[in-house]
Amino acid sequence: MCGIVGAIAQRNVVPILLEGLQRLEYRGYDSAGLAVVNSGQLQLVRSTGRVAELSEKSAETQGQLGIAHTRWATHGVPSERNAHPHLSNDHIAVVHNGIIENYEELRSRLTAGGYVFTSDTDTEVIAHLVHSHYARGNSLLVATQAALAELVGAYAIGVIAADDPERLICARRGSPLLLGVGIEEHFVASDVSALLPVTRQVVYLEEGDVVELLRRSYRIFDASGKQVERTVQTSELSNESVELGQYRHYMQKEIHEQPQALANTLESVCNSQSLVPGIFGAEAAATFADIDSILILACGTSHHAGLVARYWLEAIAGIRCSVEIASEYRYRASVPNPKTLVVVISQSGETADTQAALSHAKAQGHGHTLAICNVPESALVRLCKLRLLTRAGPEIGVASTKAFTTQLAALFLLTLILAKTRGHLTGQQEQQYLHELRHLPSAVQKVLDLEPQIAKLAERFANKQHALFLGRGLHYPIALEGALKLKEISYIHAEAYPAGELKHGPLALVDKDMPVISVAPNDALLEKLKSNLQEVRARGGELYVFADADTHIHAADGIHIMQMPEHAGYLSPILHTIPLQLLAYYVALQKGTDVDKPRNLAKSVTVE
Ligand code: F6R
Repeated sequence: MCGIVGAIAQRNVVPILLEGLQRLEYRGYDSAGLAVVNSGQLQLVRSTGRVAELSEKSAETQGQLGIAHTRWATHGVPSERNAHPHLSNDHIAVVHNGIIENYEELRSRLTAGGYVFTSDTDTEVIAHLVHSHYARGNSLLVATQAALAELVGAYAIGVIAADDPERLICARRGSPLLLGVGIEEHFVASDVSALLPVTRQVVYLEEGDVVELLRRSYRIFDASGKQVERTVQTSELSNESVELGQYRHYMQKEIHEQPQALANTLESVCNSQSLVPGIFGAEAAATFADIDSILILACGTSHHAGLVARYWLEAIAGIRCSVEIASEYRYRASVPNPKTLVVVISQSGETADTQAALSHAKAQGHGHTLAICNVPESALVRLCKLRLLTRAGPEIGVASTKAFTTQLAALFLLTLILAKTRGHLTGQQEQQYLHELRHLPSAVQKVLDLEPQIAKLAERFANKQHALFLGRGLHYPIALEGALKLKEISYIHAEAYPAGELKHGPLALVDKDMPVISVAPNDALLEKLKSNLQEVRARGGELYVFADADTHIHAADGIHIMQMPEHAGYLSPILHTIPLQLLAYYVALQKGTDVDKPRNLAKSVTVE
C-alpha cells in the first residue's frame, strides 16, 4: 500500500528519499513521486513506473528538504497526474496515505474558492486546504493543524512549503507514521524499513500527533494540540532481514525462513517446562478465567489462521469460538457478549478493516481483547489489552507465508493455555504438546525439502485457467489458503471447498482440464476424503494429493502424489501449508508474474 518517506538534512536528501521508496516497494504501488525544496521553489518528479524509473527522472533534482511517496490507487486511476506529491499553487507539497472521506465536499468548497484541481485524488484537497491557511499568514505548522481539523478520514501526511526550507510537517491519524532521529537531520516514514540506511533511532507517532521537524530539533503535538514527548526507540530490525540474499524472490526467502520464524515465535514456551498465560501479558490469567467464548476477527490469510484456530479451540480447549471476516463484522449488527475474548490476527497490525472491527467490538462492550501480530509497535498491538507477537521478522512478499504459519503457532499456544486454564489439559498432554512444538521447526524443514519435486509438478499448471482445492476439517482452511496463494500470485482462478461439499455443486466443474489439489492428512477424516477423491477421479479430474505417510493413497493415471514426511497431529495444518505455498510460488514462476508484487495488491491494507 502507499508509502511515505521525508527528510530534512544538511545534505542532498534525494538519494535518501529514493532508497527509502525502494525499500517500501514491497508494499505494492502503481506510481511514485518526490518533491524537494530548492532555492525557494518546489521541484516535483513523478512517474508511473518503478522507483528505478523515478530515480532516473530525478537525476537533476536536489535539495535538503523533501517528501516522497509510492501510491496505490484508491481515488483516481494510476497516472502521473494522480501520483503524489500533490501541489497547491506550486507552493505547498503534500504526500498522503489513507482516505479522506469528506473530500468531495471539501473539493467543491475549495473549487468555489478559486482552487484548481489537477488530479482525481482525495489528497489534493489537503494541499489546497493547507495552502488556504498558509496564505493567511499562518506558519506551516499552524496551517497544517488547521487543515487537519477539517478532514474526516484516515491519514499519514508529510507537508513542505516552497518558501520554508527549514521545516517538514507531518501527522498521522489512522495510518502509521514514524520519525527517524539522526544527527542534525530528521526523517519521516510510514515503515521503519525505509529509514534503516540512515538511522535506527525512531519515534512511533500516536493517533492524532502532528510533528514539526527541523534539522536540529523536532516538536510533537498530540491530538489536543499539547506539546508532548514520545519515547525514542532503537529499531531492532536488521538491514539483512529486509535483503534478498541468495533467494530469487522475497516469497521464496520467506517460505524458507519458516523453521526459524516458528522457532523464534515458540522460543519462550519451548524453553520452559510448562505453559503459562503470562506470555499474553500481565492481565492474561485474570482475563482467561473470565471468558466463556472467543471471537476471532481478521482478513485474508490471517482470517484463514483464525479458521484453523476455531477447530483447535473447540476441540482441545472446549471453548466456543466464532471467526469473522473483519470487513463484514464491522458493519454487522451482532449480539455482544462481555465474556468473549476478541482476538484480532494480523501480520501488519495496521489493516484498516481489522482495526475498525476491533473498535466496533469495543464499542459494543467487548473489553477482553488480544492481538496476535507480527509488528510490535503496530496499531492493533497498542489497541489490545493482551498480545502475542509472532516473531516471523519482516515479511516483504505481498503473499503472506511465514506470517501465516507463525500465527498458527501463536493460536495453538492460545489453545493450549486456554485448555489448561479450563482444566482440559493433563500434565502429560501438556508435556506431549510441548514436545511436538519443539519438533515443529525441524518437521517444517523436512517439508521444505520437497521443493524440487513441487517445482517440477508446477510445470503442469502453467497453462491452466482454474484449479480446485479440497480439504476437510482442520485442513479445509489450508485448502482455502492454498487457493488464495495460487490466485494472488499466479492469477489462476482457484477455489477451495470442504471435500464433502463437492457433490453439492462444484463437482459440475470437474473435467480433465480441472486440476484438483487435495490436502490429505492421516487423520480421522481420511477415509471420507478418499471417497471424495474417487468422486473427482470418476469425472476425469486430475488429482494432485499432498498425502501423509500411511494414507495408502497411491499414484496412478491422473493421480499425482506428493508424499509428506510425517503426520503432525493437531499441528498438521502448519506442515500442509508449506507445499501449497511452494506450489503457488513455482506456478507463478512458470507464468512469469511479479511474484513479490502481484498486480492490484498491496501489503498492509491501510484503507477500507
Ligand atoms: C494474502 C495476504 C492478505 C493478508 C490480509 C490481512 O497473502 O497477505 O490476505 O493476510 O490483507 O493482512 P494483515 O495480516 O496484515 O492484517
